[in-house]
Amino acid sequence: MKGVVLAGGLGSRLLPMTRVTNKHLLPVFDRPMIYFPIQQLVHAGIDDILIVTGGNHAGDFLRLLRNGKEFGLRRLNYAYQEGEGGIAEALGLAEDFSDDGPICVILGDNIFEAPIREAMDGYRADPEGAMVLLKEVEEPERFGVAELHEDRIVSIVEKPAEPQSNLAVTGCYFYDGRVFEIVSGLSPSERGELEITDVNNRYAESGTLRHHVVDGWWTDAGTIASLYHATQLVAAAGDAPVLRMPEIGASPPEEGGP
Ligand code: DAU
Repeated sequence: MKGVVLAGGLGSRLLPMTRVTNKHLLPVFDRPMIYFPIQQLVHAGIDDILIVTGGNHAGDFLRLLRNGKEFGLRRLNYAYQEGEGGIAEALGLAEDFSDDGPICVILGDNIFEAPIREAMDGYRADPEGAMVLLKEVEEPERFGVAELHEDRIVSIVEKPAEPQSNLAVTGCYFYDGRVFEIVSGLSPSERGELEITDVNNRYAESGTLRHHVVDGWWTDAGTIASLYHATQLVAAAGDAPVLRMPEIGASPPEEGGP
């Protein structure tokens, strides 16, 4: 399976920092935010990753991550999203990369304490349809929220005023090759974006959306408050294997590097 990290968008909830850098390059405790989703994928055995980014600082990703060798990657690929057309639009840029095979997608501002490997193995065993990772949260209205009937997701509502459950849909998704056909049939939402929740609801409607509730804590880091919270969680995380993968890029850059 291949991995996709979505790190586009303008990060307007983290202004003024995001005037001068991309949100996913900001530090969360001891490393740039984007290291965490990459480390998750590497820890789960993925060695071919596409980073989708955009905005004015896209070149800095290449300077930071180079060819991905330090992470143990066989290939690190990049795609550029123009504007901020939504998570599903960014995902659409992964079509050629996916080669019609199953993919694991992680949002660049999502941090999971525990490995996603078990969930990934479950999807790999039957890579048809889609699978989302869920987590019980205290403020479901900040997220996509799953409505379940007899342990099956019947629908997901994006940032509902009155959530039907406390199960947030985290930013980790598994898709089969059908996802790109679904993305190309989407229309922009009221906020003008192609919504990942609409993609997941298409799978739910056809009865092909599975889910897995994650262990450990999960957080996004896309607002001032959640970035601060994420930093505290990572700092206190002891020797959690995914968070404490070997220090990467702490040595000085090579002569003549990007
Ligand atoms: O964190 C989980 C939540 O992420 C889910 O519960 C929601 O269902 C999902 O819509 C999303 O909500 P957010 O409002 O937090 O998404 P945000 O706009 O902050 O984007 C999250 C990441 O997606 C961002 O760090 C980079 C990527 N992204 C986003 C947009 C809008 C892109 O690559 N391109 C984009 O155009």
